[in-house]
Amino acid sequence: MDLYAGIALLLLACIGNAAWWAILVNRAHSLRYDASNLKYVRKLHDVGIILFPPLAFWFMGWTESGLLRGGSVTELPFVLQVLLMFALCGLLPFICSVLRWQARQAPAELLKATSQHFDVLKIQHVESDRQAVRGERIPLLAKFPGNQIHRLEVTRKYLSLPGRQADAGRNRRTIKVAQLSDTHFVGCPGRRYFEFATDRLCELQPDIFVFTGDLIDDEELFPWAFDMFSRLSGVAPGYSILGNHDWRLNHGRIRKGLVDTGWVDLGEKHTSISIGDVSVLLAGTEAPWIGSNPEVPVPGDEDVRILLSHSPDQRNYAHQQQFDLMLCGHNHGGQVVLPVIGPVYAPSRYGVKYAGGTYRHQQMLIHVSRGLGAQEALRLNCCPEVTLLEVEI
Ligand SMILES: [Fe+2]
Repeated sequence: MDLYAGIALLLLACIGNAAWWAILVNRAHSLRYDASNLKYVRKLHDVGIILFPPLAFWFMGWTESGLLRGGSVTELPFVLQVLLMFALCGLLPFICSVLRWQARQAPAELLKATSQHFDVLKIQHVESDRQAVRGERIPLLAKFPGNQIHRLEVTRKYLSLPGRQADAGRNRRTIKVAQLSDTHFVGCPGRRYFEFATDRLCELQPDIFVFTGDLIDDEELFPWAFDMFSRLSGVAPGYSILGNHDWRLNHGRIRKGLVDTGWVDLGEKHTSISIGDVSVLLAGTEAPWIGSNPEVPVPGDEDVRILLSHSPDQRNYAHQQQFDLMLCGHNHGGQVVLPVIGPVYAPSRYGVKYAGGTYRHQQMLIHVSRGLGAQEALRLNCCPEVTLLEVEI
């Protein structure tokens, strides 16, 4: 093998190796593992990705009969051959992921989408509160060039429901659901940023608000959450579930705190509500972290069945229970979206397939919010968002 072919093969092996580690981290974060175990997995991932290239170039490349010294793969020791092949196999899921990202298309049931972008740090009327927008605990990561952690996208999406289109001739009605998710109050962005987001949410004038988990990472900041959620529940009824970050804290206290702000807790529960003359079955699941998926009535007279699930991994349960719409958070859009490649990390059994956006699964629509905050203050090509879903029934 000539030198350049050897270099190319080893570089491809490095990419494949990194892809395997990303798959491991994504899968581990979709499970009910506590923070210390996940930290261990992340450290293993860091070491595996950092050490593989120099070790591969040395032991597979530069040693006698190595790939960079005119040797071939079959001349390598058997263990290294297996390792090289295994690393190269990682290219397959990586290429599939990139192709899926490149070929992504919104489902036909997403009739229209519009959005407004705000750079909250640069908005004139909050300019004087710059520090309060940034937050008091600004990690180094927040200063990364191009970081969008202080931006906000307010999206309006108009949806029809695949399972309800057969009812032709019926009067079409629309319900307006505003979704916010993954606020992750941790100190950055600051309180003023969330006040700005609350103003925008109130302006949407929805029929209901829904919150799909990961409220807080620093319980001392609960007053921020209390202010935000109290204001929202004063505008329209709010329904909430918790997420895996809440599970790691005193989730009973967080749940009570949300209920005290006037929000209805839907963790492992369901309720029937009316929005105008539209009857809605609303349910919530915090599985696999808290409780399990709720037992819900079989489809009846309700006009629409909506599930709040922190993770889109509950997709199959939602489909089995014939929900029309599943609203999720958790994946943060991948947080870092690379040019051409797309997102690499999403804490899901499906990897980055449901990183963020609107998807169709069988007769059900799934909307995964990119969320408002993040524990690690880094978002590249992945703006925080709140969404108004106008659902045609
Ligand atoms: Fe989250």
